[in-house]
Amino acid sequence: MKLLAISGSARQDSTNTALLHAMKHLAPDGVELSIFHRLDTLPVFSPDAEGEKTPVAVLRLLEQIGKADGIIIASPEYVRSIPGGMKNAIDWMVSRFEIIGKPIALAHASHRGDEMLASLRTVLATVSDGFLPHVFLRMPLVGKHPEDIAALIAEPTQASQVARFLTDLTTAIRSRQGG
Ligand SMILES: Cc1cc2nc3c(=O)[nH]c(=O)nc-3n(C[C@H](O)[C@H](O)[C@H](O)COP(=O)(O)O)c2cc1C
Repeated sequence: MKLLAISGSARQDSTNTALLHAMKHLAPDGVELSIFHRLDTLPVFSPDAEGEKTPVAVLRLLEQIGKADGIIIASPEYVRSIPGGMKNAIDWMVSRFEIIGKPIALAHASHRGDEMLASLRTVLATVSDGFLPHVFLRMPLVGKHPEDIAALIAEPTQASQVARFLTDLTTAIRSRQGG
């Protein structure tokens, strides 16, 4: 099973990206988790740039989405909302086939950000009927360095929370795939 984990933060020391990296080490057997953390490489969406004009960076991301059995998104809140780069990526997906019916789960590296989460849930449920609102992982990691996050999530309590999230997600994907 292939999972694609998308970070909503292009920041080098992003806590959301670090959470996804830690998750990669805890993926169950048979689950391959790859990470996309370069939303800053995608041009600003315009309907005029779709179809044959779709930029290469966007096509590469869409191809990864197409190949994935499921998507994890971990995004910060910016100005009480979805960061522009994250929303821009979703706008590129809207009129494409890759996202339709794709199972998507949210993770979130902050104890804050409920307005962004509410908005992102609405948006994802709109673009994919595979959105899984009940599969959710939240870890209060604001201000922590990626190395400290890796160490923290390796501890048994946090590791088992992450493992449970991944098991819930892969179980939901298998059940949608009919087995
Ligand atoms: C431009 C900007 C706006 C932000 N707005 C909010 C906000 O509205 N609510 C909030 O809880 N945090 C806000 N933050 C803080 C980030 O959500 C927080 O630092 C988060 O951990 C960043 O995620 P990252 O470590 O993955 O980059 C903002 C940060 C930035 C840079």
